[in-house]
Amino acid sequence: MATLSELIKKNNKIVVGLMSGTSVDGIDAAVISIKGKGVSTKFKLLSFETVTYPKKIKELILLNSTPGKGTVDIISSLNVVVAHYFSDAVKKAVHSAGLSMKQIDLIGSHGQTIHHIPNGKNIGGKLYRSTLQIGDPSTIAKLTDVTTIGDFRVADMALGGQGAPLVPYFDWIVFKSNFSNRALLNIGGIANITLLPKKCKVNEVLAFDTGPGNMVLDALMKRFFNKNFDDGGKVAFRGDIILPLLNELKKHSYFNRLLPKSTGREEFGIKFVEKIILSSKGYSKEDIIATVADLTAFTIYDQYKRFAEKFCTINELIVSGGGANNLFIMKRLKFYFSKSKVLTSISFGVNIETKEAICFALLANETISGNPSNIPNVTGASKSTILGKICL
Ligand SMILES: Nc1ncnc2c1ncn2[C@@H]1O[C@H](COP(=O)(O)OP(=O)(O)O)[C@@H](O)[C@H]1O
Ligand SMILES: [Mg+2]
Repeated sequence: MATLSELIKKNNKIVVGLMSGTSVDGIDAAVISIKGKGVSTKFKLLSFETVTYPKKIKELILLNSTPGKGTVDIISSLNVVVAHYFSDAVKKAVHSAGLSMKQIDLIGSHGQTIHHIPNGKNIGGKLYRSTLQIGDPSTIAKLTDVTTIGDFRVADMALGGQGAPLVPYFDWIVFKSNFSNRALLNIGGIANITLLPKKCKVNEVLAFDTGPGNMVLDALMKRFFNKNFDDGGKVAFRGDIILPLLNELKKHSYFNRLLPKSTGREEFGIKFVEKIILSSKGYSKEDIIATVADLTAFTIYDQYKRFAEKFCTINELIVSGGGANNLFIMKRLKFYFSKSKVLTSISFGVNIETKEAICFALLANETISGNPSNIPNVTGASKSTILGKICL
């Protein structure tokens, strides 16, 4: 426990943030130096690495994320397997920062989500909210010999929250402005938006998942072209948007749900993909890809208009996440958000791929500093709370 009390007192720390999103494209590890805490946090990125899962592991994760397909023995094993890959990612990033493991103070790990039930499930006559991120943090702590904080989402859910999104607290610390109404948009497997009215206080932040980011596109690219994603949006650029299909997809019930809301593979996974394939018979693969890419951009705009604009008319839309590499989506975002400036987080010194990994390093620093880091206004939790499990 001596290490923990020393760590709590330390003002300057070197922290590794770990993130692997719903795309299951790879584990992002960011080594950062952090000074201070809360609104006075200063940080600097020292290195960043992505470690991809071997094909077989990725397939097992995806299979075991599907209700009715997963089996408990494989999930139990994957919880540890993923922790091994996360630990490897830490070591790789620490090495490329030119540091030794002994210099690392703390790890913050999001884990790999395999299931997320933000609105709860009726079990024995009562509704329970739950979420499952695998990649056991105590295994990471033992394999790296570094105090590790993981499982950030469940505390918020225990207080009636959605357990997501958690990035808004980070967005608020790093991106809030005195002069401009900003929206931070992360296009991962799912797309989420954080609205930061100028000079906002933490309880004035608004954030939610807008719907699919790359998840549906990636699944269709795999099916049609055996590719993991549409590199640069090139395939989408060759197609035309199919309006009847787009209109059909816009009817998904998630888009009408009121805030707070979050979503995942449960709603935009294999069933949604099958529906698209059935509804698009006779159209070219390129047209279908263009339509689904446009669905991402359109729903981001539509959800903003319906749920956020009345609180905050944005001046700047700051995009991050792997989807910012899809130039077709970026073009369509510029089209829809024609009254705002559309930028990427690079303009603010934060690389598009590193943002979420840095976020989890910062959230770990908040936890160790005793600061709450959920935003009840965003998640719907009854109060703000300290997140995560500390594994020595
Ligand atoms: N060069 C690229 N062109 C188009 N899309 C890309 C490119 N690079 C990454 N992506 C997309 O970004 C996704 C990964 O984004 P990421 O932010 O890591 O999502 P997640 O948080 O869900 O893992 C990939 O699955 C892919 O769809
Ligand atoms: Mg990823």
